[in-house]
Amino acid sequence: MATKRKRTPPIAKTETDTLSKAETLGSISDKKQASRKIGISLSSDAVKRIVIRSVIVAASFLVGAYFLWEEELMDVFVGVSDTVDRKYMEVECSSDYTKERAAFGVCVPTRCGRVVMDNVVTISEAEYLLRTAKAGLSMGESYGGASILDLHSGALSKGDKFIDIYKQVKNKIHGAIAREFGIPVDKLYLTSPTFFSKMTPRPAQTVHDEYWQVHIDKETYGSFHYTSLLYLADYGRDFRGGRFVFLAPERNITVEPRLGKCRVSFFTSGSENPHYVEKVSSGIRYAITVSFTCDPSKAIEDPNIKRLQ
Ligand SMILES: *[C@@H]1O[C@H](CO)[C@@H](O)[C@H](O)[C@H]1NC(C)=O
Repeated sequence: MATKRKRTPPIAKTETDTLSKAETLGSISDKKQASRKIGISLSSDAVKRIVIRSVIVAASFLVGAYFLWEEELMDVFVGVSDTVDRKYMEVECSSDYTKERAAFGVCVPTRCGRVVMDNVVTISEAEYLLRTAKAGLSMGESYGGASILDLHSGALSKGDKFIDIYKQVKNKIHGAIAREFGIPVDKLYLTSPTFFSKMTPRPAQTVHDEYWQVHIDKETYGSFHYTSLLYLADYGRDFRGGRFVFLAPERNITVEPRLGKCRVSFFTSGSENPHYVEKVSSGIRYAITVSFTCDPSKAIEDPNIKRLQ
């Protein structure tokens, strides 16, 4: 450019615009050469700008898409730092229960929903159950990401203290479900399986390990009418991932487990409540599932130490 300017006739000196300057150049070949040079320098600048802008736009799009995908449009129903006396979300009952109503009467859900309650049990009860779960599940290490220990099978050595605490906890949850759903306590029975669960980031070995698959408890376990969970670990502290997720048409909702708040969640077990647990990405997630039925023929007795001896 500087060399060109020297060869430019005097008129051009007043001109600041490079394009006009190029137009004042004497020969056609000079004009061509100049415009080509100008064209090249303009377009390479423009290309740079376009490339930079596109990279920024693409990057922000990808970041946005990643977070959207990560978040999966989920709302936190009860978060790890919340404390809830009772949080209830009503959902319309599925038609799963219509046939059973005649047989089992008032116990069969007429109102369906999801409930979270903190401090239904005491911290010493929850911590005692956690110690039992850890001890009982310590042999399960060689299996896949999920291990369960059925509380009513012979696999767990049951001392007096365990039976007392387990019964207390089960009775408190039983009472809470009956109250929330307006059922006489004596029409709602404990059923099987009722179990400790341990979830880790280990890869699944069998379909039973795939707790992150959406499922309906009433389909998985025919006898269930009400499912409850007592969380024995804290989300974000003892483990990552592993939030409980209820499916909903617009936004799925999560329950963040919290042992420290003695968090219990329970829900009607039919297809109005499809759910899954997110993959645990680190740490270990312990919980206990206590399940209830309206069908007296599917009822199980409390564990009884005398019967086991
Ligand atoms: C809810 O979760 C299911 C299973 O992961 C998923 O297929 C669905 O798209 C989610 N719904 C919303 C609204 O994000």
